[in-house]
Amino acid sequence: MVTSSELKRLGFSKGTVSEVLLSLSLGNEVNIAPMGVRLGSHAELIVKIFAGCRTYDLVRRGARDYVINISTDPLLFYYAVFNKGMLALRPARYVKAPRLAGCEAYVEAERSAVSHGKDYLILRLSPIYLEYRRTFPKAFNRAAPAIIEALIYYTKIPYLKRSGKIEKAREALDRIRECAEVVEHSTRSRKLRSVMQSIVKAAEEILNA
Ligand SMILES: Cc1cc2nc3c(=O)[nH]c(=O)nc-3n(C[C@H](O)[C@H](O)[C@H](O)COP(=O)(O)O)c2cc1C
Repeated sequence: MVTSSELKRLGFSKGTVSEVLLSLSLGNEVNIAPMGVRLGSHAELIVKIFAGCRTYDLVRRGARDYVINISTDPLLFYYAVFNKGMLALRPARYVKAPRLAGCEAYVEAERSAVSHGKDYLILRLSPIYLEYRRTFPKAFNRAAPAIIEALIYYTKIPYLKRSGKIEKAREALDRIRECAEVVEHSTRSRKLRSVMQSIVKAAEEILNA
């Protein structure tokens, strides 16, 4: 059992969404993707998953095992969207879903309930086991949240385009470009800058297609 107070200490809250990397498995199939998670009542974690992604499909088909991988590394979020092959997966302790190597904490969980909306589902998870690394604290920087923000806008663009909301899709691209400026101003890291540039390029390509 993982208690509500432990989940709160990890940063989960009823009122604020926490961005995590959610891995899940169904039979031999596994997947990992960034997802927003809220704390529910009775030490539950709640995820709203929109139709159209692989995670949605696996949950709808009955996936029971999950790991909530906690990290502030923007590169892990980037690869989880653009190139999952770059992510190193490791066995979890009590569930069949894998852990993502290099995270600060892992919450292993089982599905407790799923409810369906029109184009989304609400997944409720019961955490059964928690493991965390005692890492040295990291000072805040502006580049990591800007990349994560850009990724969120990027993943919305295909959906906005599909539903004919072209103006909103263009606004999302504007937001991504603003995030790119933040990254340019706040880091000299070639890796972070090139990751950010590839998000801008990929967003432009979807809009111009
Ligand atoms: C930080 C972050 C948070 C996200 N949160 C959610 C979410 O809560 N629900 C959702 O349906 N998609 C969310 N997304 C979008 C999915 O991660 C994205 O659609 C992803 O490509 C799905 O991968 P999959 O097809 O492998 O499931 C988020 C993306 C990012 C970058």
